[in-house]
Amino acid sequence: MPGITLGDTVPNLEVETTHGKFKLHDYFADSWTVLFSHPGDFTPVCTTELGAMAKYAHEFDKRGVKLLGLSCDDVQSHKDWIKDIEAFTHGSKVKYPIIADPNKEIIPQLNMIDPIENGPSRALHIVGPDSKIKLSFLYPSTTGRNMDEVLRALDSLLMASKHNNKIATPVNWKPDEPVVISPSVSDEEAKKMFPQGFKTADLPSKKGYLRHTEVS
Ligand code: BEZ
Repeated sequence: MPGITLGDTVPNLEVETTHGKFKLHDYFADSWTVLFSHPGDFTPVCTTELGAMAKYAHEFDKRGVKLLGLSCDDVQSHKDWIKDIEAFTHGSKVKYPIIADPNKEIIPQLNMIDPIENGPSRALHIVGPDSKIKLSFLYPSTTGRNMDEVLRALDSLLMASKHNNKIATPVNWKPDEPVVISPSVSDEEAKKMFPQGFKTADLPSKKGYLRHTEVS
């Protein structure tokens, strides 16, 4: 995935959207944002994805996270398409802005390109309040994304960030399940940091690196 990636600052582009023009950093300020791209308006998979984002919007709201779509057509086309999306999802409203990119000038700058097709992809960046990319997905146009996984990954980022990245979330983790303690934290530090205690897995290597704890 050439171009901006994890840890990079998203360029502060002025974008035209269904909610008017704004600069990306103004939109990102003070909260996390899920920025997701789509190959084009009036296409079947994209219609289901944007509808699902509308249905899940309350979950993102609950977490104080903003949504920002992008599709490679103009604002008027987006507005017409939103009527189809809302009809398809039986009334879920598309309340988040969708960036217009009819000339496909923005997607390369945001690294939302499918390198095989050399065209727009289903990319998704989770951007922190510092306008830096914290996580990226890149799916081809033929594969719709899983919004439960977007939320799960977001919850992992929020949890790790809340604990200064001293914890990490294991495979298939969901909120309320135990987390693991980062390898950068010694047992002595872990005792202070996690007074609730932690459990070290007894593994053949006896290296004591897999430590679970419960946090909220
Ligand atoms: C779709 O959104 O359905 C789609 C877009 C581009 C290529 C294939 C499918």
